[in-house]
Amino acid sequence: MENNAILSALTARKSVRVFTGDPITADERGAILHAAFQAPTAGNQQLYTILDITDPALKATLADLCDHQPFIAKAPLVLVFLADCRRWLNAYHAAGIEDVRKPGAGDLMLAMADTCIAAQNAVVAAESMGIGSCYIGDVIENVEAMRDALHLPDFVVPACMLVFGRPTEQQQRRPKPARFAEAAVVCENTYRDRTPDELRADFTARAAANGQPDYDFDKAVTAFCNRKYASDFSQEMTRSAEIYWKEFE
Ligand SMILES: Cc1cc2nc3c(=O)[nH]c(=O)nc-3n(C[C@H](O)[C@H](O)[C@H](O)COP(=O)(O)O)c2cc1C
Repeated sequence: MENNAILSALTARKSVRVFTGDPITADERGAILHAAFQAPTAGNQQLYTILDITDPALKATLADLCDHQPFIAKAPLVLVFLADCRRWLNAYHAAGIEDVRKPGAGDLMLAMADTCIAAQNAVVAAESMGIGSCYIGDVIENVEAMRDALHLPDFVVPACMLVFGRPTEQQQRRPKPARFAEAAVVCENTYRDRTPDELRADFTARAAANGQPDYDFDKAVTAFCNRKYASDFSQEMTRSAEIYWKEFE
């Protein structure tokens, strides 16, 4: 599909982790937030609260709590997207409903989807203004310290964090990592496991598209597993998620 500005922007968009010193203007910030609010939202409930982190000390704390990623503290705009199952509960209470149930796992899963969809609208809006962004998934780690730092009450759970800023030239030049081919991620009608040979071919083709013709599947997948899936931070994510989750049981 040629000459489609939105499709081109979605294809070109890549994460930005080094920012120029340029600030994000109040108008730009407003447009990013407005776009988030315009995202589809279950029952038009907007099951999220967005924390605009303006305090440099708090940015530094978040950079530390989120697996020590210092670039977070250098971003001119830092937004934490909280899945919020509390606002409507409070509204039900305010409306005098006494026997309302507490939010359950389904409410949290719906709020998580709602929140991340709003976040992605913010990403696309920023991209349209030449502002780069990067998701920070580690915001779901360190539940105790995170709750303390952000004053999170019951039924309010971090879904994702986004940092925004103008990309440096080096970041603009950096190639975007290639994705898997369609066949690797789309099934017709029902789920089907990729066979070991198909997985090997999927990963090798993606590596070739990323300029790695000598890709060694066994070695690379083992290294990735050690670095990410089996890492301390990954296990910390699950520990924290289980604690957040318990509130909804
Ligand atoms: C849920 C989620 C969590 C992420 N967490 C981090 C993170 O903590 N640190 C980081 O540098 N990038 C993070 N990223 C960015 C991914 O690494 C990035 O999207 C991926 O490598 C693909 O690259 P691209 O966005 O440039 O196309 C995250 C992305 C998502 C969607």
